[in-house]
Amino acid sequence: MGSLDINALMERTEQWILPELESVFDSKESEDITVKAGLYSLFAGGKRLRPLMMKLTSEMLGTGTDIDADVKYFAATLEMLHTYSLIHDDLPALDNDDLRRGKPTCHKAYGEGIAVLAGDLLLNKAMERLFSICEKKPGYIYTASALAENAGIKGMLGGQSIDIASEEKEISLDLLTELQEKKTGAFIEAAVVTPYYLSKQMTREESRTDEMANALRKLASHIGLAFQIKDDILDVTSNSEILGKSTGKDARDEKATFVTLLGLDGAKERLDEETKSIRSILDSFDGKGFDTEDYRTLTDFLVNRDR
Ligand code: IPE
Ligand code: IPE
Ligand code: MG
Ligand code: MG
Ligand code: MG
Repeated sequence: MGSLDINALMERTEQWILPELESVFDSKESEDITVKAGLYSLFAGGKRLRPLMMKLTSEMLGTGTDIDADVKYFAATLEMLHTYSLIHDDLPALDNDDLRRGKPTCHKAYGEGIAVLAGDLLLNKAMERLFSICEKKPGYIYTASALAENAGIKGMLGGQSIDIASEEKEISLDLLTELQEKKTGAFIEAAVVTPYYLSKQMTREESRTDEMANALRKLASHIGLAFQIKDDILDVTSNSEILGKSTGKDARDEKATFVTLLGLDGAKERLDEETKSIRSILDSFDGKGFDTEDYRTLTDFLVNRDR
């Protein structure tokens, strides 16, 4: 490990996660129009960054081959939750976007009603999968609960709620940070901590006091902020052909973002600060004997990416 460039890491992640995602719905279910719409978005060409983060955490910590299949199962489940969040985020009632992952958004391709249901479908299927693995391995109950909570009002959904309620409003930097930590940071936290939680069959109590769990959450929080600040910057500086989604919409919808609040230069400065924090945490992981090279490759991509 530690020698692959970002394209090789992404390619390897796609090969790793694809069979798991392809097995989520059986052939009978796949005849249903809502399932077709969900699969359309799931396979539309996302970067699979959250599965990549899960794989890299697992490799960096050396969580062992005996839980590899379970890490993959959770990674696919998280990718389903992420895709559901994007389908709903793009709906006319929310961000009203026509383009996602280089293709027409789910509601453009299938109509609004089916797109709402396709999001519900992916959310519900993700929850079924979490219950199902806990039936077989009750030691995973907290890991599964934590993922469900990261999708909920304390996590992604809560962030989306503040995002929508803050349109056309001046909000404080604190509220903006909370918004971003929830809407984007919560899923990134799940991606970073899940392999560790699985390997320890972590309980809620232990997760609060465990030193590595705390360090991973801190790392995830800086990655999450860096990732969303970059997303906000790209909305201003990139173009839809490269990005695969429309640009300039945050200003048009008067969204509260790091760019609208701090300006482009201010957002870039904050991104630099977050990047430094990520690197210093990775330095401390090096000091503990972990190989962080692939994680650094991923971090460099997150902050320098153009898509
Ligand atoms: C986009 O996430 C939504 C945000 C949280 C900013 P990604 O940039 O990871 O989207 P995909 O999965 O590659 O489409
Ligand atoms: C959405 O943030 C993050 C989600 C929870 C889906 P954005 O609205 O900024 O994401 P994009 O720019 O549409 O991908
Ligand atoms: Mg949005
Ligand atoms: Mg959006
Ligand atoms: Mg955005």
